Amino acid sequence: MRIGIVLGSTRTGRQSHKVARHLERELQKRSVATDLIDLAESPLPILDERAGRHPQLQARVQGLSARLHEADGLVFVTPEYHGSFSGVLKNALDYFWEEFNKKPIGVAAVSAGKLGGINASTQLQHVILSLGAFPLPIKLLVPEVHDAFDESLQVKGEHIERSTTRFLDDYLWFARAIVDAKRAASERAA
Ligand SMILES: Cc1cc2nc3c(=O)[nH]c(=O)nc-3n(C[C@H](O)[C@H](O)[C@H](O)COP(=O)(O)O)c2cc1C
Repeated sequence: MRIGIVLGSTRTGRQSHKVARHLERELQKRSVATDLIDLAESPLPILDERAGRHPQLQARVQGLSARLHEADGLVFVTPEYHGSFSGVLKNALDYFWEEFNKKPIGVAAVSAGKLGGINASTQLQHVILSLGAFPLPIKLLVPEVHDAFDESLQVKGEHIERSTTRFLDDYLWFARAIVDAKRAASERAA
């Protein structure tokens, strides 16, 4: 199974990348293949047309499409901005549709405040339904992110450690159930 981690924070001085790296490490410890898709590495222009309908698709959109297709499941990591998830992430999601088809998607939300991106995460779960994908019911919330990791980007407190374990246990159970069901359906159809 291959899980794509989509990092939806691109600003200078961002903190959310620490959570994305933490999830990447923890998934790899569980022998899960990962692909960290950092939207800052190849920024997408503001949407002018969806990937499936674009007459001259840019190489970076094609590249992102291929990486999303290759993932069996996804985890979206978003900062909370003005009570919602990031505009950069929404712009990226709007390019794609088939890439998300019936995939299990987990949400990790990050905030400077004490509520850990609760609004961002709930709104993003609703959007995942509209992508034709399955949102994991629980989410990973990382409050006061500026104080949650040490200088070598390791988690400082036990709280985040515990909530990450619970999130990934649930996510992998959910993702494996969906991947197995899809495989069985395609074998029956063959
Ligand atoms: C435009 C903007 C809006 C923000 N709005 C909120 C907010 O509504 N609630 C909150 O707890 N933090 C808010 N923050 C702080 C972010 O949660 C904080 O930057 C955190 O580190 C996670 O995002 P990052 O990856 O950009 O660092 C905001 C930050 C920015 C840049």
